Amino acid sequence: MNISYDKENRLFSIRTASSLYQIQVDQLGYLRHVYYGKDLGEENLTYINHSYDIGFSGNPYEWRVERIDSPDVIPQEYPSYGSGDYRITAAYVRNQDGSRCAQFRYSCHEITKGKYTLNGLPASYDEDDDCETLTIHLEDSVSGLTLLLYYGVFAKRNIITRAAEFKNTGTTPVTLEQAGSACLDLPYGNWDLIHFHGRHLLERQPERIAVPHLVTDIGSNRGMSSHQHNPFVILADHEATEDRGNCYGMMFMYSGSFLAQVERDQTDAVRVVMGIHPSDFCWTLNQSETFVTPEVILTWAEGLTALSHNYHDFIRQNVTRGDYQFSHRPVLINSWEANYFDIEKDRVMRLAEEAAALGIEMFVLDDGWFKGRNDDNAGLGDWFENTEKLPEGLGPLIQGINQAGLKFGIWIEPEMVNEDSDLYRAHPDWAFTIPGRDPIMGRNQLVLDMSRSEVVEYLYRVLFNLLNDHPIDYIKWDMNRCLGNVYSHGLPADRQGEVMHRYVLGVYELIDRLETAFPHVLFEGCAGGGGRFDAGMLYYTPQIWCSDDTDPLERILIQNGTSYGYPPSTMGAHVSASPNHQTGRSTLMRTRAITAMSGAFGYELDLETLTEDEKNEIRADIIQYHADEEVLLNGRFYRLEDVRSGNYAAWMSVSEDRSSAIVSLVMKDIQLCPQFVHISLKGLDEQAQYYIREDDAFHSGAALMHAGYTFQLLMGDYRAVQLHLTRK
Ligand code: GLA
Repeated sequence: MNISYDKENRLFSIRTASSLYQIQVDQLGYLRHVYYGKDLGEENLTYINHSYDIGFSGNPYEWRVERIDSPDVIPQEYPSYGSGDYRITAAYVRNQDGSRCAQFRYSCHEITKGKYTLNGLPASYDEDDDCETLTIHLEDSVSGLTLLLYYGVFAKRNIITRAAEFKNTGTTPVTLEQAGSACLDLPYGNWDLIHFHGRHLLERQPERIAVPHLVTDIGSNRGMSSHQHNPFVILADHEATEDRGNCYGMMFMYSGSFLAQVERDQTDAVRVVMGIHPSDFCWTLNQSETFVTPEVILTWAEGLTALSHNYHDFIRQNVTRGDYQFSHRPVLINSWEANYFDIEKDRVMRLAEEAAALGIEMFVLDDGWFKGRNDDNAGLGDWFENTEKLPEGLGPLIQGINQAGLKFGIWIEPEMVNEDSDLYRAHPDWAFTIPGRDPIMGRNQLVLDMSRSEVVEYLYRVLFNLLNDHPIDYIKWDMNRCLGNVYSHGLPADRQGEVMHRYVLGVYELIDRLETAFPHVLFEGCAGGGGRFDAGMLYYTPQIWCSDDTDPLERILIQNGTSYGYPPSTMGAHVSASPNHQTGRSTLMRTRAITAMSGAFGYELDLETLTEDEKNEIRADIIQYHADEEVLLNGRFYRLEDVRSGNYAAWMSVSEDRSSAIVSLVMKDIQLCPQFVHISLKGLDEQAQYYIREDDAFHSGAALMHAGYTFQLLMGDYRAVQLHLTRK
C-alpha cells in the first residue's frame, strides 16, 4: 500500500515513486500538515514541526492555560476560517446564526483501492491499478458540517490529487462562502513562485518571483480559466533550475473562475491555497446536501523539467480520454484564416481539394457556416446551416469533402448567443443579463445561462442532431467572451452565488453527453485561442487551440510557457500565412512548420495563394510529421533554452525508450547571435551512440549532453532547423 496510517502517532504517510506526504491528527483532532517532498526513507517526520506559539496568534480553548500550538503558525492540512488561523484559508463557512466559523476535527478515515470520482466534475482516473485513495473524514461538531478530504495517490506518476466534499449533517442550513480544493503549507525554505500570465494572443507566459511577505492572488473571475492567468502554479527553491531543486506544482482541474493564493507569513512559512474563486461563489447547504470541489493535481519533483514530465505523463494517461487520447490526430486545414466569414461552397471545395492534394487529412469548417452568421454580430445560438451561403446545406458539402479524401470537422460556440439570433428572440431569459440593466457585451455576444437544465437540454438536442445528421469527425468547441453580469433568471436571489459554478457544471455536462453519444468525434477546445486551457477541459478535449496568435516567433513563447504544465499533444498548432495575420511578420514555411509540429499539427491559410515550391514543402512537412509525430507529441519534452531571453529558441523531444530524439532550433535575432549556437542536449542515453541524420554522423549520448552540439549560424532571422537522432 502506498498509503499507511500509523495508529500510535496518528500519522498518515502517502508515498509515490519518489515523494512522501505526511499528515498528522493532533491531540485535539485537527489535521496538521507534516511534510511533502522527496521521500527520505524516514518513517515519521513530525519532529520537524515543533509546537509553536507566537504573540497575538491565539490558541484553541483546550490550550488556553498552556498557550501552546497556535493554529496560526502551525502547518495545516485544510485551514478553515474561525479556527484561529489568520492566514489565507481554504474554507469560509457562514452558519445560520450569522457566525462565520468552522472547526473541522478528525472523525475517521478510509484507504481504498482505485481513484475517487467527483460528481459532475472532471477528475483524473486510473486505468492500470496504480491509484489508491485516502479519504479523511472531519466534522465541525457545532454545525454538523462534515468535510471529506480526498487524496488520490498515483504512485508511479508521482502525483497526488486532492479534492474536498462538504455535507451538512446538521439540522440548520450552512453557507459555503469559500470552498477551496487544497492547501499546501511549506513551513521551511526559500521559495520562488512561478505562475503563467498572459492575454489574448499571448497566453501562459511564465513569471518567477520570490514569494513576498504578502498574499499574492493568481486567479480569474471571468467564468473561464482565462488568457490572463492559468490555473497552475509552481513553487520552486530559489536556486531551482530545469534540472535541480525542489519544485512543487499545483494544477487546478477546473475551467471556471479560480483563485490560487500564495502567502508568506510572519514565520516565513509559505502557504498555497487553490480552489474556485470565492468572489463570485456562495453555496448554501440544506440538511443532507453536499458540495464537492474540483480537483487539484499536486506533484513534487527535482527540477522543472521533471515536474513538467510528471504533468505531461499524467495529463496524457490519466486526464485526457477517448478515441484520440493516444492515436494519430488528423493533420487538418482550418478555414478561419483562409476564408474568415466568407464561407461559400465552391471556395470551400477548392480549399479542400488543394488540401487533399498536399496530404492534409481533415477539413475544418470554422466560424461563418450557420444561420445569420456573416460577421461576428449575429447568428450565435442558431446552429443550423446558413442556406444563403450553403444553399444545398451541409450534407452535399461534407460529401464533397469526404469524396476529396478528407475527414470533416466543424466549429461551434455552444455557450454563446447573439441578440440578433432566433434563439435569443425566442428565449431572452436564457442569457445572463441583470434585470433592468444593459448587459456588458463581449464580441457583441451574450453568454447562455448554462446553469439552467433547459438550456443544456436544448443545446444537447440541437448539437446531437447536427452530429447525428452529418458524418462529422471533429468539433472545435469555442468560447469567445468572458462571463459578465452573471445572473440567472432561473434561480432566486439568494442562490445567485451558485451560478458561476453551475455554469461550468452545465458546460461539462453538455460536452460529456455529446462525447458519450459520439465517441468517435475528436473534440478540440478553444476560447479565443487558449483562454480556457486547463486540465478540466483536457478531460473532455484532448487538444486545445493554444492561441489565436499563429506567428511562429510568438507561438514559441506561448508553447514554451504552456509546456511547463501541459504536453505537446494537447496544444493545437497550425501553419498560417506569411506575413502573419496577427503580427505582420514574415517567416519561412520551414520555421512555421517546425514550430507547429511541436503540437497537434495543422494548417490554417489560403492554399490557393501558395507557390508550387511552398506546396511541395507542405507535402514534405506532412510526410515528416507522420514519421515524427509519436516522438514530437508523446515523447519527453525538454526546454533547452530560456526562449524569452536568448537569441534563439531550442527545444527537444525524446522517445520514451530514448531510441530517437528530435531537436528544434529557431533563430530569433540574427544580429545578436554569435557565429554558432552551442547547446547541450538532454534526455539521451549516455552510453549509446546516436546517428544524426542531418549530419550523417555519430556521437555518443554522453558527448551530446555534456560536450554539447554546435549549430552553424543560420543566416537570416527566424530560420529554423531540426536534428533527427536515432540510437545505433
Ligand atoms: C476564435 C477562435 C478562432 C476562430 C474565431 C472564429 O477567435 O480562437 O480560431 O475560430 O474564434 O470566430
